[in-house]
Amino acid sequence: MKVSPVTGSASDTNPLRAGLRRERVPDPCTMIIFGATGDLTRRKLVPSLVGLGAKGLLPGGFAVVGVSRSSWNDERFRREMRDAVAEEEGTPAASNAAGWEEFAAGLRYLQGDFTRDEDYRRLAALLDRVDADRGTGGNRVFYLAVPPSLYPTIIEGLGRAGLQRGAGGGWARIIIEKPFGRDLATACALNQVVMSVFREAQTYRIDHYLGKETVQNLLVLRFANTFLEPTWNRHYIDHVQITVAEDIGIAGRGGYYEEAGVLRDMFQNHLLQLLCLVAMEAPVDFAADAVRDEKVKVLRAIRPIETAEIPHLAVRAQYQAGSRAGRPVPGYREEDEVAPASTTPTFAALRLMVDNWRWEGVPFYLRSGKRMTKKDSEIAVVYRAVPHVLFGPEARAEMVPNVITLRIQPDEGISLKFEAKLPGLALRMRPVNMDFSYGSSFGLLELPSAYERLLLDCMLGEATLFTRRDEVEAAWSVLAPLLSAWDGAGQDGLAFYEAGTWGPAEADALLQKDGRRWRRL
Ligand code: BG6
Repeated sequence: MKVSPVTGSASDTNPLRAGLRRERVPDPCTMIIFGATGDLTRRKLVPSLVGLGAKGLLPGGFAVVGVSRSSWNDERFRREMRDAVAEEEGTPAASNAAGWEEFAAGLRYLQGDFTRDEDYRRLAALLDRVDADRGTGGNRVFYLAVPPSLYPTIIEGLGRAGLQRGAGGGWARIIIEKPFGRDLATACALNQVVMSVFREAQTYRIDHYLGKETVQNLLVLRFANTFLEPTWNRHYIDHVQITVAEDIGIAGRGGYYEEAGVLRDMFQNHLLQLLCLVAMEAPVDFAADAVRDEKVKVLRAIRPIETAEIPHLAVRAQYQAGSRAGRPVPGYREEDEVAPASTTPTFAALRLMVDNWRWEGVPFYLRSGKRMTKKDSEIAVVYRAVPHVLFGPEARAEMVPNVITLRIQPDEGISLKFEAKLPGLALRMRPVNMDFSYGSSFGLLELPSAYERLLLDCMLGEATLFTRRDEVEAAWSVLAPLLSAWDGAGQDGLAFYEAGTWGPAEADALLQKDGRRWRRL
């Protein structure tokens, strides 16, 4: 069954809600990217900005100042970024020369050493010139697209140069990439550095999963419909499965990944955010603090992980050689910059309990890994079995529970699985799916990228889809016992899986002992 969009319109006088309903263009501003020659700038930031420009959502005069150590100049920066955009298939700049020229006219480059105060003063002077040339009004977004070890240096450098304030009455904001710390203590310390220079309202900690269209749709599904809420609780839901599977390996980031591992790379941020959105109570409105307050409550309700319990509720594993799309691929330990006896996990599966009124007794199973069978992320909410089966013992054995599945990527959409009668004179049944897919309902082949959404929101001063200080710290607290146990465990309890599979047998056993199993994706 297909779901078709129903259209309608309503005028809204509440400025917050009215603002949400329109596409808005931010105030003229400059984005300053630290780490301008790096991969994130090439692959995500500049293509997303160009994408916003093509949609008419960049303010007139918008400028980008790239800062890095390499001895590039404005011309080289423009050339490199043009090539980067062209490499990103399908971005409009590749085909829209006029759009690119307009965007490129606002690109500036500053060669700078992040440790030298003098270079922040040069940056301040350049920003003043950009304001004068392009009318950007002293409004600034600083983007930290550098290795996390440089965050404090840059934040303090900005502070000493007085750049935490916009110029001439303008505003200043800072976007901080993940990983935000590597454990609770380092995240708290980083928050302190940030707060010694910027106010919380200026600080945008990015988690790109929150910018995904399908993730935002989870809020719409839950809070713009009546039919779900009465059953969205322990009385009707048996358990929740959150899977974020990737088929790629560590994609040339061995050095980073050795330090991070899957818990820091995926769970502390993306998977816990998804859990929060499934489990949170309805916020009073869509304002940043209202939404974030509810997410923090979920994180605080997660049952603390007892070290002695870890073997019963968590699995960590590493991929070994296998195949991807029919081609052999190396094991994790054979990857560049990875220690030959590394015990860094590339896969984890966890069972978390949310001890609150709504979710008491409902397990949330989370799994994520590199080099799994395919890229596939979904949230599956599995309902309880019906209380009484009218159709005899055989039917009981055949019947499967209702499942609401939110497909985050690819094939974005939502489906509801339910039992239907098989046509014929016997009373047999079979599960069927009622399916909504973005492609067929909205005729959309490509959804806006998460970075486009988040960059635009930051320029608009909307922080709902960014994580707050207490939220980041609460997420680290949830994982702290697991991180310290696993960091110190070495080979003990580390499982292995062949690249190209759904993970180790131990992850299956985690659910089997609760009488459940992972969904086959
Ligand atoms: C990043 C991780 O945050 O998310 C990567 O550092 C991972 O390791 C990526 O590959 C996954 O993002 P997406 O949007 O491709 O699911």
